[in-house]
Amino acid sequence: MSSLKIKKIKNKKNKKKIICLTSYSKNIAQILDKYCDIVLVGDSLGSVLYNYNTTRKISLNTMIEHSKSVKKGVKKSLMVVDMPYNTYRNPKEALKNAKYIISQTGCEAVKLEGGKKIIKIVKHLIKNKIQVMGHVGLLPQSEKGKFRYKGRNNLERNKILNDAKSLSSSGVFSIVLECIESSLAKLITKSVKAPTIGIGASVFCDGQVLVTDDLLGLNPTNFRFVKKYTNLGKIIDKSVRLFKKEVINKSFPTKKNTY
Ligand code: KIV
Repeated sequence: MSSLKIKKIKNKKNKKKIICLTSYSKNIAQILDKYCDIVLVGDSLGSVLYNYNTTRKISLNTMIEHSKSVKKGVKKSLMVVDMPYNTYRNPKEALKNAKYIISQTGCEAVKLEGGKKIIKIVKHLIKNKIQVMGHVGLLPQSEKGKFRYKGRNNLERNKILNDAKSLSSSGVFSIVLECIESSLAKLITKSVKAPTIGIGASVFCDGQVLVTDDLLGLNPTNFRFVKKYTNLGKIIDKSVRLFKKEVINKSFPTKKNTY
């Protein structure tokens, strides 16, 4: 089943756009499942839900508990789980933790951040039949300092291009391109066999991913690459305000809500 889903995603390259969004819980996952090829349990969970100043702080167990919830909402899309920081420092550790994530959550693939530096690890996972999604460009797990888009000079551009090429030839089924200058994202997408999925990486990628809380307007942060499709924060505020008012003036609960 998962290999069929992977095949469908790979076959979309140069033909149809790949739709990917993040989820940290069942209720959101079951809505995304209707529209997405991939539902990603991203380690952005750490900053978005737990308010950590870095994704490095999210633990393997927290990722697993949220992924178990997401799994309950995912029926048709491919479920991918981010391997948290320090869970894939060498091939043996990566395989043990990837197997653990898959067995505990029922997800179908894992995502790792990095290129050539982690290529031995990626190859070891793939050799052991673990489906891997790559991630190059801005790498929140290893980024020091302010997040800035990548591909500003030739050295950086060549490194990212070579990272993506190495991942693709190692057999990853797709690669996330995060915050990459448009012409470089276009070049990478043209140069590699694996479909590219962009976040802040232009329209030239084979697909797009966003953090769902960002597109719903639940996350107060403002990134250039995010489009807020609604302002759920405002809608929730309005509903909670009305609830409070109705409790105070006793118009809730009514007979209809009472046994
Ligand atoms: O952690 C995450 O949500 C991600 C996406 C932004 C691609 O890696």
